[in-house]
Amino acid sequence: MQEYKLFLNGEWADSSTGETFEDINPATLETIGVLQKASLEDVLNAVDSAKDAFESWSRTPAPQRGKILFRAARMLEERKEELARLMAVENGKILTEARGDVQEAIDMAYYAAGEGRRLLGETTPSELPDKFCMTVRRPIGVVGLITPFNFPMAIPAWKIMPALISGNTLVLKPSSDTPLLAIELVKILSKAGVPKGVINLVTGEGGKVGAALVRNKKIAAISFTGSLDNGKWISSEASQDMKRVSLEMGGKNPIIVMDDADMELAVDGVLWGAFGTTGQRCTAASRVIVHEKMLPEFQKKLIERAKQLKIGSGLDESVDMGPLINGQQLKKVEKYVQIGKDEGARLALGGSTTKPLPGYFFEPTIFTDVTAKMKIAQEEIFGPVLSLISAESLDQAIDIANSVAYGLSSSIYTKDIKNAFLAIERIEAGITYVNAPTIGAEIHLPFGGVKATGNGTREAGTTAIDEFTELKTVYFDYSGRLQKAQIDTQIDI
Ligand code: UN1
Repeated sequence: MQEYKLFLNGEWADSSTGETFEDINPATLETIGVLQKASLEDVLNAVDSAKDAFESWSRTPAPQRGKILFRAARMLEERKEELARLMAVENGKILTEARGDVQEAIDMAYYAAGEGRRLLGETTPSELPDKFCMTVRRPIGVVGLITPFNFPMAIPAWKIMPALISGNTLVLKPSSDTPLLAIELVKILSKAGVPKGVINLVTGEGGKVGAALVRNKKIAAISFTGSLDNGKWISSEASQDMKRVSLEMGGKNPIIVMDDADMELAVDGVLWGAFGTTGQRCTAASRVIVHEKMLPEFQKKLIERAKQLKIGSGLDESVDMGPLINGQQLKKVEKYVQIGKDEGARLALGGSTTKPLPGYFFEPTIFTDVTAKMKIAQEEIFGPVLSLISAESLDQAIDIANSVAYGLSSSIYTKDIKNAFLAIERIEAGITYVNAPTIGAEIHLPFGGVKATGNGTREAGTTAIDEFTELKTVYFDYSGRLQKAQIDTQIDI
């Protein structure tokens, strides 16, 4: 069995304790690799390497850093198919989606590389003569990146590429369910020319390795995508030494289907939004709020179509939905199906495990007669479980959409521009789609959510650079005399 190492100061290394864990294919339950359980000492080494490399990397001109990222983007592109296949094996997602995941990393690499020639600040006039005012961007320092299993390439790339172009050095801690893709990404970056120590990788338990990053005083910022509970812990722990923290957490994303919607389009969108990535996206549609006039026909069509989804190995091109990521996730989904039944929702489709292969497969599951306050309509399940809720008007649909703790993505299907604009204005979410499902964010726009989904930061887009830079305000006085702002400035008007 192939063993994979930690990446510390430009070298692939064993854990100092020699402890390892296994990486499992969720479709077949075969072990596909043996990984290192990093020790606290390994984490310290990783952070120290990043700290040592910071001076030189942060002083490398950003366009030069950009050249390295362009090279990495091209290498990712050349290896796209191979990486997608590895992802289908390690994560279980179907090949079409795995290719999209790698493409998202490629897009982010090119986008961030281009930022090397921008990293824009502002200039603005001073209120005093012979004085120049501007902002410049500075890197933050050593950043700790903690990433989930569901986008094993895209999410590490969303964080790594902007962090690097901004001049930070970093330690990445990928999900223990999908470390191989993170390792491939780090190998590519290193081969593309990222100098030793600039990027370090530690694998192992989140509670130990991730926690050690959050607590390390030399780490200046943490960027985390994962669960609300872990995000809350990170937020309070990191506040002890005033670390910058960016959090992307859960969602309970609604699709509103109005009575004037294009029915076929809405059914297509709901299927893709709810069952794509086996429902394991922060952006997955887990509630469909349907206008009561539309509901009976919509429900019938949706169930008919969902029944036809083929479940199996992500490597099989005819399959629509792969397995869940692990046994724990499967148990969670089963628990919520039971909760839904106990709450009095009607299980209209699925609800059980299924065994095309020995892995963690679960049927596409649809609950009807769901009310807004039920737990299955409130809590993030992260699986292929969809709740259908009836609404009598747009107002009521929006109130239901907003009745949850989270606020990441949202969508409305309607032909009426007024409905669309009211939804854009009133839905409490970081993202609203019109006539498209809740998934499919593009990398050059800000990504993130409101309420319990995040802490106000946004990844990707121009905001990716905000996440990984500090702004310095510069006042440059070339008058040769002491000038006093607010005092020497009086012009009577
Ligand atoms: C996530 O689920 O954490 O918009 C990220 C999307 C993808 C990213 C999802 N581009 O669904």
